[in-house]
Amino acid sequence: MDHFQLLNGIMHCEDVPLPTIAAAVGTPVYVYSTATMRRHARIFREALADLADPLIAYAVKANPNAAVLATLAREGLGADVVSGGEYQRAIAAGIAPSRIVFSGVGKTAAEMALALEGGLYQFNLESLAEAEMLSDVATALGKVAPVGFRINPDVDANTHAKITTGAAHNKFGVPIAEALAAYEQARALSGLAIQAVTVHIGSQLTDLAPLRRAFEKVGALIGELRAAGHDIQVADLGGGLGVPYDPALPVPPLPAAYGKMVAEVTRDWGVRLVFEPGRLIVANAGVLLTEVIRVKPGALDPFVIVDAAMNDLMRPSLYDAWHGIEAVAPKGANMVANVVGPVCESGDTFATGRPIDQVEAGDLLVFRTAGAYGATMASTYNSRPLTPEVVVDGDKWAVVRERRSIEAMMREEKMPEWLRASA
Ligand code: LLP
Repeated sequence: MDHFQLLNGIMHCEDVPLPTIAAAVGTPVYVYSTATMRRHARIFREALADLADPLIAYAVKANPNAAVLATLAREGLGADVVSGGEYQRAIAAGIAPSRIVFSGVGKTAAEMALALEGGLYQFNLESLAEAEMLSDVATALGKVAPVGFRINPDVDANTHAKITTGAAHNKFGVPIAEALAAYEQARALSGLAIQAVTVHIGSQLTDLAPLRRAFEKVGALIGELRAAGHDIQVADLGGGLGVPYDPALPVPPLPAAYGKMVAEVTRDWGVRLVFEPGRLIVANAGVLLTEVIRVKPGALDPFVIVDAAMNDLMRPSLYDAWHGIEAVAPKGANMVANVVGPVCESGDTFATGRPIDQVEAGDLLVFRTAGAYGATMASTYNSRPLTPEVVVDGDKWAVVRERRSIEAMMREEKMPEWLRASA
């Protein structure tokens, strides 16, 4: 459920009509609903109510906007970060260091030092070489780093190839068959305190079976590690639960079903569980609001050219992702259209041959389910400024990232001395 609904024929975000935001801020613009973010954080927490003190570490990569992080921090969520930048954002948003997990396959010594100095709950290590570097960095700072290894369980997560992470050929984690050896070798690293096993097999998962298989492997490994004398107190089960994008497809498993499965599988583990949901919390809390520039005839269907493009929302061009497209003021008639942006690539296509509300130049549309991996993956390709972001809370709304001017973008570039003289 989300809080983007028609009220008197006009789509609102909570109590705010979207045309009000478009008129004040311009388009394209991302609009986020506080009520939906809160609702999803609570639903996930309730789904895990049978577990003892779980740590829900929101995957900052899904949407790192400061206002989004502050909203989720107030809901008691921690943060899963994968860069120094995300760590700094989480701290700035008021997330306690004791609720921050540092993941990622290529942490640098500088990022390790930043998090060690500021404090964190745990580093999720992806290789022995990384463990050695972290131990050295921690020792030099006079600290001991709390860690777990991310294992690669070699399960097929049954999702898009570009967002599957737990298959043997993926770059992530320590192969499960080598995990015990990695823990044995890491035991000798005096800068580390081994406390955890971690796993994350992919994103937009629409089936619990691969997650269950991966978790069962983690459970077996915890047993082996304890038998070898490792004091495992934490298991981080990652994120990955899918959300509904296309209403024509079966609804992904609900958080309650996920929570029940987790409770069953982990019943005897005797650990604190950590979760890293991203998409589930914010995807349906956001839309990308855009205006139709013009409608151009096409060989098959007309092209609806909107002022958002692949640089603003990359998911369709990158993963062939499906996003719902709805008119902000539907007229009760439909058309079949190709919905495209103005960028000079044929891949700048949001939908092909899609039945949508009838629109013409000047009408507003939304791309739905754009709160996760939307604004954060945007680029300035074709010299298009990064899309601004707005947060709504009831009848209040605020711009939480401004649209940068092209002048500001140009000022960031410096002319080398030899090109400064006039031609
Ligand atoms: N934890 C780790 C270690 C991750 O790599 C990810 C996502 C998450 C948690 C959060 O996963 P979620 O609950 O959001 O599925 N840009 C892609 C998704 C990439 C996901 C990368 N890792 C997309 O737009 O579909």
